[in-house]
Amino acid sequence: MKRENVPRIAWGLTGSGHFLRESLEVAGTLPDVDLYLTKAAAEVLNMYGYDMRELRRRFRIFRDNTASAAPVGLFYHGHYHTVVVAPATSNTVAKCVWGISDTLVTNIFAQAGKCRIPSVVFACDTEPEVTTESPSEWVTLYPRRVDLENVDKLKQFENVTVASTLDELRSAVEQRMACLNASSS
Ligand SMILES: Cc1cc2nc3c(=O)[nH]c(=O)nc-3n(C[C@H](O)[C@H](O)[C@H](O)COP(=O)(O)O)c2cc1C
Repeated sequence: MKRENVPRIAWGLTGSGHFLRESLEVAGTLPDVDLYLTKAAAEVLNMYGYDMRELRRRFRIFRDNTASAAPVGLFYHGHYHTVVVAPATSNTVAKCVWGISDTLVTNIFAQAGKCRIPSVVFACDTEPEVTTESPSEWVTLYPRRVDLENVDKLKQFENVTVASTLDELRSAVEQRMACLNASSS
């Protein structure tokens, strides 16, 4: 599972049911991925029937159980070449936009910025109307203006690619991997 001394992807999972399964499927196609979970992500994963032990067979997993986001120390030692936050709740997007880092995922996003590591954020609340699968049924939600405006603000950040659809997430990650492969050959 873990190749030593190879820079990895730090993949932030937040408490979004929307595109949770699809985002994990994309993460599962990539080599050398570590999952960073918010507390809400750990709960929501459980609600959608994911088994943490099973996920640990595929990924190294960091849980949000320190006030200082202790694992971010890894960012100072070239451990990661890319941060992906997918799926990103509107809560996490808002915090990222306003420079708040008080969860493991908002901390890895902030550290990526400070260490000039490129980030990809898959913001799920990007349309005025969203149909999503809750643990028990399909529901329609109406993201607020503030949610949509925060996504637009995040698009202005340097070194950050915002994906608004699953295809855009796949394509942003593929482009990042191609860029890394080109620079290492
Ligand atoms: C089953 C379930 C599904 C959820 N799905 C979403 C979602 O798709 N988008 C969202 O913004 N919040 C969603 N939430 C709410 C977030 O989990 C909540 O706002 C949480 O505080 C986000 O914390 P985080 O951004 O630190 O992960 C969901 C909550 C539950 C219980």
